Amino acid sequence: METQVMNVDASLKTDHRMFFPEMEGLVLLLLLLSSPTSTEESAVYRGADRNQDHTPGPHYLLDPIRNVIQSTRGANVTLPCIMRHRPRSYKVKWSKVNPLDPMENLIIITNGKYHKNYDKLKGRARMRRSHRLDASLVITNVTLEDEGRYKCELVNGLEDQSLTLSLHLEGVVFPYQSRGGRYGFNYMEARQACEEQDGRLATYSQLYQAWTDGLDWCNAGWLLEGGVHYPVIVPRQPCGGDLPPGIRSYGPKDPLKDKFDAFCFTSALQGRVFFLRGPMNYTEALAACRARGARLAKVGHLYAAWRFFGLDHCDGGWLVDGSVRFPIADPRERCGGLPDPGVRSFGFRGREERLYGGFCYAGV
Ligand SMILES: *[C@@H]1O[C@H](CO)[C@@H](O)[C@H](O)[C@H]1NC(C)=O
Ligand SMILES: *[C@@H]1O[C@H](CO)[C@@H](O)[C@H](O)[C@H]1NC(C)=O
Ligand SMILES: *[C@@H]1O[C@H](CO)[C@@H](O)[C@H](O)[C@H]1NC(C)=O
Repeated sequence: METQVMNVDASLKTDHRMFFPEMEGLVLLLLLLSSPTSTEESAVYRGADRNQDHTPGPHYLLDPIRNVIQSTRGANVTLPCIMRHRPRSYKVKWSKVNPLDPMENLIIITNGKYHKNYDKLKGRARMRRSHRLDASLVITNVTLEDEGRYKCELVNGLEDQSLTLSLHLEGVVFPYQSRGGRYGFNYMEARQACEEQDGRLATYSQLYQAWTDGLDWCNAGWLLEGGVHYPVIVPRQPCGGDLPPGIRSYGPKDPLKDKFDAFCFTSALQGRVFFLRGPMNYTEALAACRARGARLAKVGHLYAAWRFFGLDHCDGGWLVDGSVRFPIADPRERCGGLPDPGVRSFGFRGREERLYGGFCYAGV
């Protein structure tokens, strides 16, 4: 590990303010995700929301019970927004709030009778309308890109009000290196690499969550917001030295010129992963999966199967990117010997090597 570490701090606040001073919204979201109690969560939120803070008069929208809604990829999720009473005439406007993009991302506008759908969610959004005060939004078939903050805004002429909710996907973060070895991706290449492995570049809060779940990784990788970080649980010399455990941060990096690894995020597996015994070379593994109506799994498929279904296999298997890996849910001496569960990697192998099995993925 190079000694380029500029700031080491497990505290999200300082960390993000330092490199993304414009990203107040994200900082608040992170604070919110890490707040211990729901009372504190809403306190943080109200401070953030000027509309809500300074609006006099009646409150038309019920304070949400939870500000963070958990879901997984492929699920249907409801973002609750309930009116306390219904103004005579009003509109409800749902939009997605992107701290990196000041443009309003409209999803749907309704006046209680009719609604207009904008193409932000490509037909996957509708109003729930389960009673006359219900302005909740339903998103079907949740995707990785749906993660983020959503705003329900009641437009009533004089006293507009809004509430903001965060949609948080359960998932797993995995570090990813290029075929050429360590630090082979600029930002766009990292983004693409994650997408090719059935994932998406992880956000800072996803990496933070993964760190609290046990991710310790000594190589720096790009995150979705454009920062470069790595998570350390056990401080050691090659990984920033004696600095306390936390998410280590590199300074601002050039998205075109600077090269690092990637931290990818994926959520629930829509399908299943199974192992085929070898020995096979890469082409044989491709054909063997195809013969069973499946295809060679992507790295994200393997991580999701490990994380969500406890897939455990002590033999290395080919994946479609040409790497060889194996998932360990139940660590034991003869399976690599490491004490913690994880997906182990032999790295990218020569495609003619006839030593491994294969992991196949069958979609739904
Ligand atoms: C989501 O909702 C649609 C209908 O709106 C339904 O067809 C589908 O089965 C639901 N999916 C899940 C995972 O519940
Ligand atoms: C859900 O989304 C995924 C990826 O966008 C797509 O492949 C799948 O067909 C969708 N499923 C449904 C039920 O719409
Ligand atoms: C894998 O083995 C087959 C023979 O079973 C051979 O035809 C093929 O060329 C080999 N593929 C590679 C990449 O070495």
